[in-house]
Amino acid sequence: MISLNLVTLLYLLASVCFIQALKGLSHPTTSRIGNTFGIVGMALAVLTTAALIAGLARPGAASLGLGWVLLGLVVGGSVGTFMALRVEMTKMPELVAFMHSMIGLAAVAIAVAVVAEPHAFGIAAPGGGLPLGNRIEIFIGSFVGAITFSGSVIAFGKLSGKYKFRLFQGAPVVFNGQHALNLLLAVAMLAYGIWFVTSQGPNAWMPFVVMLAIAFILGVLIIIPIGGADMPVVVSMLNSYSGWAAAGIGFSLDNPMLIIAGSLVGSSGAILSYIMCKAMNRSFFNVLLGGFGNGASGADAAAAAPQRSVKSGSAEDAAFLMENAESLVIVPGYGLAVARAQHVLKELAAKLTAKGVSVKYAIHPVAGRMPGHMNVLLAEAEVPYDQVFEMDDINGEFGQTDVVLVLGANDVVNPAAKNDPKSPIAGMPILEVYKARTVIVNKRSMAAGYAGLDNELFYMDRTMMVFGDAKKVIEDMGKAVE
Ligand code: TAP
Repeated sequence: MISLNLVTLLYLLASVCFIQALKGLSHPTTSRIGNTFGIVGMALAVLTTAALIAGLARPGAASLGLGWVLLGLVVGGSVGTFMALRVEMTKMPELVAFMHSMIGLAAVAIAVAVVAEPHAFGIAAPGGGLPLGNRIEIFIGSFVGAITFSGSVIAFGKLSGKYKFRLFQGAPVVFNGQHALNLLLAVAMLAYGIWFVTSQGPNAWMPFVVMLAIAFILGVLIIIPIGGADMPVVVSMLNSYSGWAAAGIGFSLDNPMLIIAGSLVGSSGAILSYIMCKAMNRSFFNVLLGGFGNGASGADAAAAAPQRSVKSGSAEDAAFLMENAESLVIVPGYGLAVARAQHVLKELAAKLTAKGVSVKYAIHPVAGRMPGHMNVLLAEAEVPYDQVFEMDDINGEFGQTDVVLVLGANDVVNPAAKNDPKSPIAGMPILEVYKARTVIVNKRSMAAGYAGLDNELFYMDRTMMVFGDAKKVIEDMGKAVE
């Protein structure tokens, strides 16, 4: 048996751990300790809540009993462990989108249960209706949860890129009157929500269900027009939504842990969305309203690009150029993660450094498929942090750099973002590698990147393409540098 005071104390400790986790995760050097804080905080929060639900803290109160709670912990914990162990680094964004969708669905499921049997949650006396405050909280938590669920399902499909279903394609889905329809649905959802809040007992069900149905549709409609390179903003936005949904439900359940954890996720996700919008030069409100840019499909642009010739060379040619350079900047992109070439890359960099070449890494904030993807990749290979530079800190140096080695990066070095106002990525800041004296680009083919765009960088006179899988190419470069 544990006392309610102890529950409060454990929740407080868990909250402090979560704040420390966020602080730690804000820098690569402290991210491991940040993660440990997160794990400890979550273990405290889950076990304390389990004890609460099992009735260990409130003897005599209605409870599920220890058996059901343990079953839930074992099933949920096993599924989570299995998925986390199996997931590849490049599939993390889909896993994150999947988890957001589960948080949204959980919020909706709890809201439905509360509306059905408020007394089971200690919110109303048996036979009594839901108090007004709880109805408002349930309305907010459930509609945000429903939008998060269906929006995250679409984001999952778009990020995985392997489903034929049109709404799961990277290219935006746009149609006439889209914004007007979204606005109409949002107003209707609000109206049914107010109807639900002002109704009692069985009368509340109809407006509640219609409000939820509209929210599910709205989640789909908000995400489908977002395509190409703009998905990073969507991922962080849904992250934020999932937190607010949890916080809303925490208020209706009167659970301080859920309120605190939900608010932390909601606000940190909102800050991340802001950072992503800034990194991509997008307006946050355009994202919230669903879709931005001119709706042009990058895939169409790439398909329409005429066949042009490029200069290509071997890994040995590239190694020769790098060995004889004074300064080398390496630009990792999604392809480096696909090839899992971070360890061989570090070995190559060490060999070049030993030969007197100054080696730096340049990271674009949306390189890869999730925030910080490239930082994590390089940290895994234990690349020294003082060699890793963010876009704003290194862009001024490309003009004086001898050689830039672009490894599996495409959109984040595409000059169209600066030069072509009609491009779907127009306005997005890029790593200005085209200013370097020599540019070596490694990728497997002339295929487009995530935004589906042709890249003028590949056709420049001072660019040499080295085709092949990044790991094999870097290994060959390493052998040539011996
Ligand atoms: P991309 O533009 O996606 O380009 C990656 C390139 O890597 C491709 O052109 C591909 O060309 C090449 N590649 C794939 N596998 C490879 C391998 N094994 N070896 C060598 N090359 C390989 O990547 P990026 O420049 O990192 O840009 C990221 C894009 O993803 C941006 O558009 C961004 O907006 C979007 N996005 C980012 C996030 C976050 S939060 N970072 C989330 C969702 C979407 P080949 O097929 O010819 O090899």
